[in-house]
Amino acid sequence: MNKIPNHNKSIDEQIQHAVATLKAGRLVAFPTETVYGLGADAHNSAAVKKVFAAKHRPATHPLIVHISSATQLDQWAKQIPNCARILSQHFWPGPLTLILPKQDTIPDLVTGGLTTVALRVPRHPLTLEMLRQFGGGIVGPSANTHGKLTPTCAEHVQTDLGDKVDYILDGGECEIGIESTIIYFKDDEPYLVRQGMITANEISRVIGTNVHKDSELPTKIRAPGSLERHYAPNKPLLLVTSDMQELINALTLPEPANSKAALLERYGNNIAVLSFLPQPANFSGYSWQHMPTAIDLYAKKLYACLHNADQPQVDVILVECPPKTEGWAAVIDRLTRASQDEI
Ligand code: TXA
Ligand code: MG
Repeated sequence: MNKIPNHNKSIDEQIQHAVATLKAGRLVAFPTETVYGLGADAHNSAAVKKVFAAKHRPATHPLIVHISSATQLDQWAKQIPNCARILSQHFWPGPLTLILPKQDTIPDLVTGGLTTVALRVPRHPLTLEMLRQFGGGIVGPSANTHGKLTPTCAEHVQTDLGDKVDYILDGGECEIGIESTIIYFKDDEPYLVRQGMITANEISRVIGTNVHKDSELPTKIRAPGSLERHYAPNKPLLLVTSDMQELINALTLPEPANSKAALLERYGNNIAVLSFLPQPANFSGYSWQHMPTAIDLYAKKLYACLHNADQPQVDVILVECPPKTEGWAAVIDRLTRASQDEI
């Protein structure tokens, strides 16, 4: 059944309906500036269990708790390092998640048994208003089946989880399009757990100290976003790190002439391409999406383009790898996790 509201309801009525649904212990998918979240009342364990079940998410994988303001930080976390406070004041509402020691009142289910909790204030106006009216925290993993493509519009959620959510608050297309940057603290030092559109350099500038890589932590922290294969389409995705033009030339020749084209033949001919180059006249694959060269525009479109390419008729998705600079790091991170191989 379609869970996206028909828009006869006013925005106020839609928000009130979302709040009432959450208070009744049911699931609401909600928009954020990054991606859509699958929401439930963080203090209602039965509701939180439904989130794990709907996503097929292992119970040991902790959830982010969304709150309405940085002023609520102490209700959810303790032993908060000064640099975490500075970051919350600087970047919230916004695409930054902070992992901090949790308050005892948070159910263990939310944090997958960990003693820390991931917190974030999202920037989408509908969701911020929903959080204010709701009053409490709302758990919100991305609103997709575990390991699958992340949703960046209400229709993506409807297609993947429409039969499992009780309501989808439709806030249109997400402004940023990829998941938040996640920072963990150890001995008051910040560690980058997941890349997002707020870069490690921006964070360093705000707090005046370097952000460490999470690989520098003495013990690995548990975060499924850091699993090697994640955010993946159903169809195999190959990341093109070699010369795209050369590959196209090989593909569009009448007889596949070189080893790369031969490799692709293993997958089949119905190719969906995401490239910075325009579609060649003699391209005979399934689809060609001409990608923007501006990082923010690319990130915003990325998951929607992968959803478009991930069709039953498609044999393989080819994505031209963006330049390996710090600005592109979050995009390349998602593409690498989504890909089976490089070509
Ligand atoms: O942009 C986002 O962060 C979106 C929107 C909806 O807010 N949410 C999102 O949630 O991406 P999810 O569950 O798909 O990714 C959250 C990541 C997971 O990799 C999870 O393991 C990690 O955060 N995480 C959550 N709590 C944690 C904790 N206490 N310690 C370590 N990692 C944690
Ligand atoms: Mg996710």
